[in-house]
Amino acid sequence: MLRNKTIVLGVSGGIAAYKAAAICSKLAQAGADVRVIMTESATRFIAPLTFQTLSRHDVIVDTFDEKDAAVVSHIDLADRADLVVVAPATANIIAKMAHGLADDMLTTTLLATTAPVLVAPAMNVHMYAHPAVQANMETLAGRGVLFVEPGTGQLACGYVGKGRLEEPEQIVEAIHRFFMEEGQLRGKKVLVTAGGTVERIDPVRYLTNDSSGKMGYAIAEAARSMGAEVTLVTGKASLSVPNGVSVVHVESAQNMLEAVLERLPGSDIVIKAAAVADYRPVEKAVQKIKKNEQEMTLTLVKNQDILQTIGSMKKNQFIVGFAAETERIDEYAMGKLLKKNCDLLVANDVTQEGAGFGTDTNVVRIYDKNGLVRALPIMTKLGVARELLTLIAERTVKGEGTNK
Ligand code: PMT
Repeated sequence: MLRNKTIVLGVSGGIAAYKAAAICSKLAQAGADVRVIMTESATRFIAPLTFQTLSRHDVIVDTFDEKDAAVVSHIDLADRADLVVVAPATANIIAKMAHGLADDMLTTTLLATTAPVLVAPAMNVHMYAHPAVQANMETLAGRGVLFVEPGTGQLACGYVGKGRLEEPEQIVEAIHRFFMEEGQLRGKKVLVTAGGTVERIDPVRYLTNDSSGKMGYAIAEAARSMGAEVTLVTGKASLSVPNGVSVVHVESAQNMLEAVLERLPGSDIVIKAAAVADYRPVEKAVQKIKKNEQEMTLTLVKNQDILQTIGSMKKNQFIVGFAAETERIDEYAMGKLLKKNCDLLVANDVTQEGAGFGTDTNVVRIYDKNGLVRALPIMTKLGVARELLTLIAERTVKGEGTNK
């Protein structure tokens, strides 16, 4: 699987640098062309000769040690890489990456590359938990950098906790997974809706719901990393838009309907993870409503169902709906799938721990018109997104999604 893939392996200076030798060896055995860059401090823990022998290539430490006069090494490696892996990644290298510093060969290459980057952090438990490190990782994740989280256990510094470099087998598996997923949706135009709609009562008050946008944003991010051209139509959400994703901000269900209808003809796949208000106030007051009366009656009118509308007019699009349920999941999910003419429907029981609104995880059941297709255990919303998109990729390759 890794044949013809160039993987730049960046090794930074932590005790776990010795584990990078196993990563290098396994990648080379799997057929990858592995190019190793070490930081100066990494060479204090393990000799470049180890990586040179395992990768069968020169190891670069010094930016100015140009071995081939025909190329500029850091640009050449940056351009050649199909993937850059930083393992182990110290708190220092993570900070440099987050802030765009380029003061050695590894950071310069990281800044010059347009290839995807996978980072496997390793450090002391308190360093890992430090808000500065967490903020730097969040910044990087927001730019599309992938992470293999450290494991929990006995650390070299004597502490027990989270911070140990994940085992080489797991890191190599993540790399395999990356190449397996990458490109599955290349050439596809994916439209994702996320967040909650806002239905105005007056200029300062509105009706909305608990959607954070996390599920839809995770789908947009995963679709992008699988090669799709992604447009995210988002209601209320305070998340950063994943790198490389086009965004359309909307407020109400009506705005979302217009944004989706405009983009439907140019989309191959539409995934509706947004929590759209079923009703809106009949009238929106132009001025702030005064509290003159003891009681106030708000009359609501039904919003047009966006999913049902596109389900009824779809041509070749593959349509995926979501359903937030609190009971009789299978029955309600199947009812919505059929009524709204979806190709797949993802139901989450929002009463379940770790599922639904606002959480970082979800527990979903995926249906097609014949019934349950997959019941996923609790996993991160990004994990759910990847599973869902892999299923969609399999089905769209088979040509499903045509009008029926
Ligand atoms: O955003 P998070 O905090 O991460 O939470 C994720 C989520 C719980 C919002 C998400 O997983 C989810 O379940 N989204 C759908 C929520 C919802 O509105 O479900 P519903 O059963 O009311 O609607 C069913 C489907 O019809 C949905 O795809 C919805 O987008 C769509 N719909 C509903 C009403 C309407 N007027 N137009 C629509 O398109």
